[in-house]
Amino acid sequence: MKEIFINDFNENIDLVVTRVKALLINSKNEILLEENNNTYQFPGGHLKDNETIEECLQREIKEETGIDLTINSKPFLKITCFYKNYFNTGKNVKSIIYYYDIYSDKMPNFEETNYDDLEIQTDFNLLYLRLKDLKSFLIQSKEDGTTNENIANEMLLALDTYLTRKEKKMKILVTGGLGFIGSHTCVELLNNNYEVVVIDNLSNSKIDVVDKIKTITNKSLTFYNEDVCNEEKLEEIFSKEKIDAVIHFAGYKAVGESVKEPIMYYENNLISTLKLLKVMKKYNCKNFVFSSSATVYGSPKSLPIKEDFPLKTTNPYGTTKLMIENILKDLEASDKDFSIAILRYFNPIGAHKSGLLGENPKGIPNNLMPYIVRVANKELDILSIFGNDYDTVDGTGVRDYIHVVDLAKGHLKAIEKVARDKGLFTYNLGTGKGYSVLELVNTFMKVNNVDVPYKIVDRRPGDIASCYADATKAYEELGWKAELGIEEMCRDAYNFIKTNK
Ligand code: UD1
Repeated sequence: MKEIFINDFNENIDLVVTRVKALLINSKNEILLEENNNTYQFPGGHLKDNETIEECLQREIKEETGIDLTINSKPFLKITCFYKNYFNTGKNVKSIIYYYDIYSDKMPNFEETNYDDLEIQTDFNLLYLRLKDLKSFLIQSKEDGTTNENIANEMLLALDTYLTRKEKKMKILVTGGLGFIGSHTCVELLNNNYEVVVIDNLSNSKIDVVDKIKTITNKSLTFYNEDVCNEEKLEEIFSKEKIDAVIHFAGYKAVGESVKEPIMYYENNLISTLKLLKVMKKYNCKNFVFSSSATVYGSPKSLPIKEDFPLKTTNPYGTTKLMIENILKDLEASDKDFSIAILRYFNPIGAHKSGLLGENPKGIPNNLMPYIVRVANKELDILSIFGNDYDTVDGTGVRDYIHVVDLAKGHLKAIEKVARDKGLFTYNLGTGKGYSVLELVNTFMKVNNVDVPYKIVDRRPGDIASCYADATKAYEELGWKAELGIEEMCRDAYNFIKTNK
């Protein structure tokens, strides 16, 4: 990559710029060209009749690379170029290209320092023009010993940094990484070139998940069979691994069990989180994504549920989630270097389409989808539907079911967010659409062409009629939304159980 650039840089700046753009585009096909209202002039004879700058760039890139660049008013990213001493003598010339997300209006935090007399800031669109400027500047500054190649190398380094970031080489510690949501998140992280370290004590997961994740991704991860409550082990892991960010899934999660064993729930869920945060602070790792739940909304005052709704829990499991959310708020307030995303999941179901990963609770399942698949698979006789007299479309409870792969992808967006911005951010992760129990069961039978016998029984204590998310905040701030529908969720959940019979 470097050689091509250096050669081209000396020969044909236009070509380089186009290649740079192509490279950037290739690295993430969500990159869009921003439609802009700037008044700058486009120098040279590039523009054809009646062509806008955007159209011109789009055409040139297409001609050069065959890549279609979409013009959109909300680009995924902007490129910002900084030239130090641009109008000055040319000594200590530095050029750097950085990117920042359109959703964040903060400028990047430069570790390189001494960019205090920045003269020019330009965005992705303007990169084209500014590189032209840089070229003429280079000619002027030759006598200072600055060569095109110095500058080219600087830019390549900056591009490398950019691409490395795009390729996401951060090292992420995933606690509970072999569980249902954790394992799918590991797959997404590895597929996006993050390094992954998992801590899991196998209390509700199986060791063979490690190999399954490796099979799916063709990548390896580091696994520690440890308990997150073990502070000493956490210290060892943090000192050895140089973790950049943590996604914290580990915890007990069965509502009914939590009512029977509250001390066990409070002890495990709270102590593990406190130990983890303590060790993170000590090792200066301050990017944290927390696995919370829509359970913190209790019985919502209205629907759909927004993040600023009042919080009230109805069982010890839910209370541990809410208590941890509060701990995180206090922590962030006390230490502004922390960057925390709280993700409130709605009802995750489905499985990895490979059939290798999915939800496999021990004993008789409490939740709906694991129960349905076992009835479909003839491991259980009949599904009990808890009540058909709710004020819903058909009387059965309505929930916002979300495909676990979509949910996993939400964690990547949250990691990007905490890596980019300081603060505490809370997001609902749901589809925004509710389905009743009967709708889910009927869809399951239709999609999988299988029978799921059911009977209507009394309401389950503590259940609410309807619960679904307003997921617009996650879309606006993270650029995330659920892509997979209820049919894929049913298909993949059944495929998993069939594959693992
Ligand atoms: C529960 C938890 C939630 C957790 C989620 C995991 C609460 C109050 N709920 O949600 O925190 O994130 O599990 O996915 O904390 N149903 C039946 N028959 C069954 C099982 C369930 O009819 O055998 C019905 C329920 O009444 C409900 C719907 O199916 O209307 C979904 O139930 P379930 O899968 O248990 O999830 P939630 O109770 O919504």
